[in-house]
Amino acid sequence: MILVTGGAGYIGSHMVALLSSSLQQVLVLDNLSTGHRQAVADGVRLVVGDLADRDLLARLFSQFDITAVIHFAAFSQVGESNIEPAKYYCNNVTNTQNLLDSMIKAGVKQLIFSSTAAVYGLPLKAKIDESHSLVPINPYGRTKLAIEWMLEDYANAYGLQAVSLRYFNAAGADPNGILGERHEPETHLIPLVLQVASGRRTHIKVFGHDYHTPDGTCLRDYIHVVDLCHAHAQALQWLQNAISAGKGLYEVFNLGNGAGFSVLQVIETVHNITGRSVSVVAEQRRLGDPAVLVANIDKAQQWLGWQGQYIHLEQMITHAWAWEQTMCQLQAT
Ligand SMILES: NC(=O)c1ccc[n+]([C@@H]2O[C@H](COP(=O)([O-])OP(=O)(O)OC[C@H]3O[C@@H](n4cnc5c(N)ncnc54)[C@H](O)[C@@H]3O)[C@@H](O)[C@H]2O)c1
Repeated sequence: MILVTGGAGYIGSHMVALLSSSLQQVLVLDNLSTGHRQAVADGVRLVVGDLADRDLLARLFSQFDITAVIHFAAFSQVGESNIEPAKYYCNNVTNTQNLLDSMIKAGVKQLIFSSTAAVYGLPLKAKIDESHSLVPINPYGRTKLAIEWMLEDYANAYGLQAVSLRYFNAAGADPNGILGERHEPETHLIPLVLQVASGRRTHIKVFGHDYHTPDGTCLRDYIHVVDLCHAHAQALQWLQNAISAGKGLYEVFNLGNGAGFSVLQVIETVHNITGRSVSVVAEQRRLGDPAVLVANIDKAQQWLGWQGQYIHLEQMITHAWAWEQTMCQLQAT
């Protein structure tokens, strides 16, 4: 059985759906702080609880035959992390340590961890590979890097077998329209622009039009959430093939598209797909926003044999638009 922490959240719920569709036994642990009960399909066991609760973790590991953990649960708003770092260190770092300690105590060694491109900080190359320097520029990125260090130390000392997946920007939604992104407040560009198209928001702010990029706006790397989840399944498979009895293992992989899309390109694509106009308000550049943030994904492709299926912005936006329309209907009822 696979324990998915944060399985009621955006990415976690798509992961649970993928695992269930391949007939894997799944147990979800989620405190519903940012996740949604409805995102976990009927028939999947959801434990509403908190990673801060060490007794609960001990009970789950003794009660269920858990062989691996996919760990999504965290807080992930960069802006909020600047204002309330304690909240981030506590939930991301301390609670991950609770999870790891419970795993080690129970003899569960395999872990896939949701890391982030924010561990790199400002890019020194056009495409960031895993050997890029790690100098995060906000508390969110620093908590994720602290966890990565913890995983490496636990692998060396206690035989943990872990993979950190450094995601760039997750985007899109379940192509069947059942699941999607539902953050409150929303901070991600694609759902924000779609909310303008659907009328749930009046305008989108574009920060900086004078970057050294083809249209002057920032370029970012977007990866479809379904492709992201397939990469987790492949990373777990890779981990299980790579481990030798009792030995610790730690590896990191970037997950992205390998291509950059500009803010204006996203807005234009939303306009083309929805047929709706999107009102744009031009703002000054924001501090700490680099012109280009794009992943080098060679390692994931070569080592995991992973290949994205929905690599076009149009596909991500089409799926996310169907989900946004579901959200509008939900709001209207
Ligand atoms: N969305 C992205 O683009 C992106 C990019 C890079 C990394 N990540 C990482 O991926 C992971 C998932 O991101 P998401 O966008 O799905 O976020 P999300 O907020 O939708 O999901 C996180 C889930 O974890 C749960 N949770 C939080 N703290 C918990 C706790 N202490 N105990 C139990 N459950 C808890 C929340 O209720 C929520 O369901 C996070 O770790 C995030 O840092 C996301």
